[in-house]
Amino acid sequence: MQNNNLKFPEGFFWGAATSSHQVEGGNHNDWSEWEKVNAERLAKEAKTKWQKWQQEKFPGMFNPENYISGKTCNQYNLFNEDFDIVKSLSQNAYRFSIEWSRIEPEQGKFNEKEIEHYREIILALRARRIEPFVSLWHWTLPLWISAIGGWENKKTKSYFLRYAEKIIDSFGKDIKFWIPLNEPTVYVGMGYVIGDFPPQVKNYRRGNKVLKNLIKTYKETYGLIHKKLGEKVMVGNANNIHYNIPYDKNGFFDQLAAKILNYVRDIRPLKWTVQYEDFIGLNYYYRDTIKFVLGGGRFGLIDIKNPNDWVSDLGWNICPEGIYHILKNLKKYKKPIYITENGVADKEDISRALFIKEILINIHKAIQDGVDVRGYFYWSLLDNFEWDKGFWPRFGLVEIDYKTMERKIRKSAYEYAKICERNGIIL
Ligand code: GAL
Repeated sequence: MQNNNLKFPEGFFWGAATSSHQVEGGNHNDWSEWEKVNAERLAKEAKTKWQKWQQEKFPGMFNPENYISGKTCNQYNLFNEDFDIVKSLSQNAYRFSIEWSRIEPEQGKFNEKEIEHYREIILALRARRIEPFVSLWHWTLPLWISAIGGWENKKTKSYFLRYAEKIIDSFGKDIKFWIPLNEPTVYVGMGYVIGDFPPQVKNYRRGNKVLKNLIKTYKETYGLIHKKLGEKVMVGNANNIHYNIPYDKNGFFDQLAAKILNYVRDIRPLKWTVQYEDFIGLNYYYRDTIKFVLGGGRFGLIDIKNPNDWVSDLGWNICPEGIYHILKNLKKYKKPIYITENGVADKEDISRALFIKEILINIHKAIQDGVDVRGYFYWSLLDNFEWDKGFWPRFGLVEIDYKTMERKIRKSAYEYAKICERNGIIL
């Protein structure tokens, strides 16, 4: 008999994720400065960057204001309201990040008021029985750090460790789940290889240096957290992993190209840190279809040729079964896994409920196959500031009216809430 009630393991964490710069508002860091200089350019480039259907559906992309994070969702002031929503949606965990530039706006000068603010956030979550998953760095840098060359400067590691220590000493005892760094590989890819994100470098060698520094920083932060808080806390990276398939599924070279890209882009960096991860954080968004080409591909001899089938508003290929294959592949590391991000940009909320359900069916299938998945965080709780794309992509379970800051819970959020509440899916 077919089991149509898919139960998840007891104690499974159900939640959503955000990051400081994308939701808080009022930040002053390398990104906020970069936005001011690049907003006009990004608005102009939208004409060539996005397809016709996207340009028609999201005319906001032509407005320079779209690219200024400004107040964004004002979660800095509205966090209690947001956590009431989390609670009302039957979620029992929340992933967010602490903004380094608030804690240490000037070198060595810690802002006690801001430390108090994040302490309040942790307490507000705890009071609602929502487990905090805390990222210490989600891509943004204090201005004094970017001025010394960001992660290219070796000193940034020691500065980061000092900041991490301050957090640990201030309210670390109230945090069990730690994510020192978010997606080092995407940061390097976007900021130092493709060059779309600050500091807009296109230099593989410099990118490599940054990645190495980030990996070292991760390992030492892992050691520091355990040294100060003992063995009970759990520390892991949030790793972005793509699902790659060959363009010609029987073609030898396309298969090889898909494997190579998978290894170089995602698996090799994971291998560098995995022995220092108490859990693997997995961020999964989309499938890439990989083709071998004779030069001129996006990665030399390797190119991405995605079909236009089920796509999000960003044009990303939606592929729920991808997560099953990735999880099966991660099983060999014998670590607990939390899906620290997974979501879809879907302004009209047409695909989101189905997407979440299909993703969770695939996660459940992996669990049945012995993969130790212990939690799922949808990206994102709220519509928010999507980096160099600005505000038009809408990932939220909750819609934001950026003029009034009104929160409106989307239909799909209620569907997800049913799953969270029963810790399972009824097919
Ligand atoms: C992730 C990133 C998030 C969010 C998401 C959607 O790579 O960690 O900050 O922007 O992608 O694009």
